[in-house]
Amino acid sequence: MEGIFITFEGIEGVGKSTQIAKVYEYLSKDYSVIQVRDPGGTEIGTKIREVLLDPSIKEPFAMFTELFLYAASRAQLMNQVIVPALRNGTIVLCDRFIDSTIAYQAYGAGVPLADVHQINCQAIGDYFPTRTYLLDLSLKVSQKRLSQRSMGKDRMEQKSLKFHDRVRQGYLKLAEENKERIKLIDATKNKKTIFQEIVQDLHTYI
Ligand code: TMP
Repeated sequence: MEGIFITFEGIEGVGKSTQIAKVYEYLSKDYSVIQVRDPGGTEIGTKIREVLLDPSIKEPFAMFTELFLYAASRAQLMNQVIVPALRNGTIVLCDRFIDSTIAYQAYGAGVPLADVHQINCQAIGDYFPTRTYLLDLSLKVSQKRLSQRSMGKDRMEQKSLKFHDRVRQGYLKLAEENKERIKLIDATKNKKTIFQEIVQDLHTYI
């Protein structure tokens, strides 16, 4: 039997990583499960991630360079990790996936949606998430959480408030258009409540 492909999405500071770690710990008691992140998750993807997020790169990325690099990391992750795991019956928990490209590169940066889909279909093939948890937070709270972190902002986090607002609105539109796949979660709730909400929902798929 094929495994289940679950993704987690949201703007910066919504607490995706915390939730993925908790869900991973919970599921790994009874199931074969892996946790990966996009961009990243492979040696090649990790190098691509470094380039994409490096705040010291001052030259602006051409729109399509950014799009191709995210897709390249994803192609490697699919080929090397996600597809073999799903074929093996493993549950895959992925921190971000194509919805991030739609939110950030299409709605945020203005890449035509048709180009996002065309380029990503080469990277993803027929594999699409079964369920996506979209953690949503106002821009104000998101920015506040970012400013409270000890590390500096990466290249994407340094983009303007307007950009991040377009990203959030893009995510909300995606959720509205894909209600059967995307579960919208209020990320202002406490971590435990969010975790319980996710786990309860997950059991309809597992
Ligand atoms: P992370 O720090 O949550 O792993 O995300 C990396 C950054 O890359 C985050 O700012 C979102 C951004 N991103 C895109 O712009 N497009 C994409 O396709 C993906 C996967 C992430």
